Amino acid sequence: MSERSAGTLNLIFLGPPGAGKGTQSRMVEEKYSIPQISTGDLMRKEISSGSSFGEEINGYIKLGGLVPDHIVISMLLHRLKGDDCKTGYILDGFPRTVEQAKSFGAALAEKGSFLSGVIAITVADEVLALRLGDRRVCKKCGATYHLFHNKPKLEGLCDNCGTELSRRRDDEPDVIANRIEVYHQQTAPLIEYYQNKNKLHIVDGNKKIDVIFQQICGIIDELS
Ligand code: AP5
Ligand code: MG
Repeated sequence: MSERSAGTLNLIFLGPPGAGKGTQSRMVEEKYSIPQISTGDLMRKEISSGSSFGEEINGYIKLGGLVPDHIVISMLLHRLKGDDCKTGYILDGFPRTVEQAKSFGAALAEKGSFLSGVIAITVADEVLALRLGDRRVCKKCGATYHLFHNKPKLEGLCDNCGTELSRRRDDEPDVIANRIEVYHQQTAPLIEYYQNKNKLHIVDGNKKIDVIFQQICGIIDELS
């Protein structure tokens, strides 16, 4: 059984762009009633607000690079102060560098809190590009679809809120290629980092969405 603060479930979902972190972490949010926190979503929200801070962030995201550690860490730690995080959370896309992981570990230790586990979803690079190219998202509620593997009930419309679906601006082929490259260079080292801490659980992300979800639930239930 993994280390766990009494009654809390603090999870990290790790994986390359298009691995299914958002898809799976939203399903986990619903089943386990803990919030899914995507640093990508937090930053896209800031960009949509039209603030100059959002503009600065967009400069990194539109090219597929990482937003500087100090910006992401401060946004994330602020979000974790929310009342809804008291019994746990699922971090989707954070940390993404060893520096972020160390800062987060230090912040947890300061609060006397623990990481329950890290779920790393693995998918081959050539599959990632196909998934992202045909992804469609709902800008209103954040739901994610795929033109072939995860279709909405009504073409082009979100199942949850009926909003017209759109393509993410960083889902263009050249930006996707850069995001995958950045993942290998800056984020993949976290696999070893968390393995050394005995926190890592690897899931094969090439299977069907429901099959992967069952496997993830099995891991989470073992952490309880
Ligand atoms: P972020 O929003 O986190 O994007 P990402 O990591 O590139 O990952 P994605 O959201 O593209 O993929 P996903 O794994 O969530 O896959 P999804 O479930 O959608 O970050 C965006 C940007 O923000 C970064 O590039 C960076 O600039 C910045 N940023 C964010 N966090 C940061 C941080 N911590 N530090 C610095 N910068 C940061 O699935 C993909 C598609 O596949 C969907 O269409 C889905 O329906 C489909 N699908 C899912 N599972 C399956 C399956 N099993 N079979 C078939 N299709 C599937
Ligand atoms: Mg995502």
